Amino acid sequence: MDKQTAWTLLQQAAETEKKRHLKELLQDPQRFHDFSFRQDELLLDLSRQRITASTLNALLQLAESCQLRHWIDALFKGDAINHTEQRPALHTALRQPKGTPFTLQDQDINADVQQALERMEQLVEQLHQQQWRGFSGEPINTLVNIGVGGSDLGPMMVCHALEELQPQAGRAIKIHFISSMDGSQLSSLLQHLDPARTLFVVSSKSFSTADTLANAATARDWLQQASDMPEQLLLKRHFIGITANPQKAREWGLPDANQLHFWDWVGGRYSLWSTIGFAIAVRLGMPGFQALLDGAWRMDEHFRTSDWSHNLPVLLALTEIWNINFLDIHAHAILPYDGRLAHLPAYLEQLEMESNGKSVDREGLSVTHHTCPVLWGEIGPNAQHAFYQLLHQGSESVMCDFIVAAKRYGGAGESLQAQHRLTLANCLAQARVLALGDNALDQSQASAWQRYQGNQPSSLILLDELTPGALGALIALYEHKVFVQSVIWNINPFDQWGVELGKQMANTLLPHVGAPVKPGTFDSATEGVLDALNQLTGGNTAS
Ligand code: F6P
Repeated sequence: MDKQTAWTLLQQAAETEKKRHLKELLQDPQRFHDFSFRQDELLLDLSRQRITASTLNALLQLAESCQLRHWIDALFKGDAINHTEQRPALHTALRQPKGTPFTLQDQDINADVQQALERMEQLVEQLHQQQWRGFSGEPINTLVNIGVGGSDLGPMMVCHALEELQPQAGRAIKIHFISSMDGSQLSSLLQHLDPARTLFVVSSKSFSTADTLANAATARDWLQQASDMPEQLLLKRHFIGITANPQKAREWGLPDANQLHFWDWVGGRYSLWSTIGFAIAVRLGMPGFQALLDGAWRMDEHFRTSDWSHNLPVLLALTEIWNINFLDIHAHAILPYDGRLAHLPAYLEQLEMESNGKSVDREGLSVTHHTCPVLWGEIGPNAQHAFYQLLHQGSESVMCDFIVAAKRYGGAGESLQAQHRLTLANCLAQARVLALGDNALDQSQASAWQRYQGNQPSSLILLDELTPGALGALIALYEHKVFVQSVIWNINPFDQWGVELGKQMANTLLPHVGAPVKPGTFDSATEGVLDALNQLTGGNTAS
C-alpha cells in the first residue's frame, strides 16, 4: 500500500473515531490487556488512547508505506541520514557494549567509544579519590557543568533523577548546572563556591555557543580574581572541556589533557550518552553510568529487532501520529508523577521540538500535514494545582504522558511510602478522569461548570523502579519515538537550522546595544527599543 492510500484510510477511520468517546472503549474488559506492552522494566499502557485494533493496524500499514524498516536499518547502520549536514546520527553506537566492533569510514568507532569511556573513568576516579587538586593543593569538591541545550538538559535531568543512588564516593563532589546566558545562575552560585576546590566543566559540542563561552569566561575571571594565580595553572587545574571540536577548545586555552571528546555523529540533544554525560558519571560512578547505557542499549535492541505489533517506540509514535494528524490534537503535556523527574519535561521539549519542529520535508518541500505538537510539562501533582484546569475543562484537546515508578522508598519510613501511594493514586485518578470525564463518578446532576468532557487521550509509562537502567530505557524510548515520527512525516530530525538565524541576528545586533543606531539599519521596532535602551542607559547598561 502506498503512503497516500494508507493516509486516506486513516482519515476515513478518523471521521468515525472522532465521534467515539473513551468511555465506550474503556468498557471493554480486555482493553488493558490488548493495549499495554511490556519491555523489561517498562510498561507502556496505551489503553487510554483513542485507538482501536483496526486503527492500530492501519497505522502499522502507514509505517510500512513510509519504509520504516529501511529507515531503522539506516539509523543503526550509520547511513548519513542527517542529510542536510551529511552525517549519521549514531547515538545508538554510544551504548553498544564493549567488544562489538562497528566500522564507520574504516574506523572502529566502538573502540573509540570505549577509549573515551576509559578516559572518562580515569577522571571520575581521580575526583572520587580526591586526587584532583585545585591551585592551593586542596582536592576538588565541586563540579560546575557549564553548557546549554543538549550539553546541559540531559546530564542535569539524569543527575537529578538518580541523585538518591549516588555511591558514597560520589557524595564528596557537589554538582551544579549553569546554562543561562545572562549569568544570573552563575553570579549567584559563585558567591557560595570555594574557588580553590571548584572544577568547571565546559560542555559544548561546537565549543562556539555564545551562552556557554560567556559563562566560561565569567568563571575564568572569577577564579583569576579570587586566586591571583597564572591563567595557565587555573585552566589546567580548574577546567575540563567536553567537545567534538578540540581545536576550538585549545584556542580557548584548554590543553588536550583537559579535554574529553566526542564526535560529529552525535547530535547535541542525543549526547548525554557520550562524554557529555561526565557529570552523570561523577554522580553515579562508572558502574551507574554503564547501567544507564545498558538500559538504553536494551531498548535499542528491542526497537531494532522486535515486531512492530509490540515495539514500544513504534507503538507510542504511531499512537501520537493518530492524535496529531488524524484527531487534530496539537498539544502534548509531559507529566511525571515523580519529583526526581522534574527536568524530564524540559529535556523532552528539546528532544521533541528541536528534532521534529520542522515544516520542510527531506526533499525540501513544505509539508502538507502537522508535525511536532507544542509540548510542555511539569511534575504531575504540581501541575494539578496549576494547568490541569485547562486539561479538564479547557477548549483544547491535549494528549498527556503520565510517567511513574511502581516501587519507591523501600527501607524508608512509612510516611514517605504513604506519599508514594498518594502519588500513584493521583496519577491514576487524573488519567481516569481525563479519559472518562465526569463519567468516572456519577456527576450527571452537576451544574454545567462542574461537568467534565473527558476524552483526553493519555499514555502511561510505568517503570518498575527508577533505576539507571530503567531511565536509560525510558530516554531511548522517547528518542526512537521521535525518530519514527520523523519517518512518517518525512523530515530530518537530526538538524536544527531553525535556531541559526537568531544567533546570527544577535551577533549583528550586539554592537548596537547601548549605542546610537542609524535609522534604516534595522526595522522600526528594533530601532525603537535600541533608542530607548540608549536613552535609559546613556550607553552604559551596567546598573
Ligand atoms: O542552538 C541549539 C544548539 O545547537 C542545540 O542543538 C545544542 O544542544 C545546543 O545548542 C548547545 O550546543 P553546543 O553543545 O555546541 O554548545
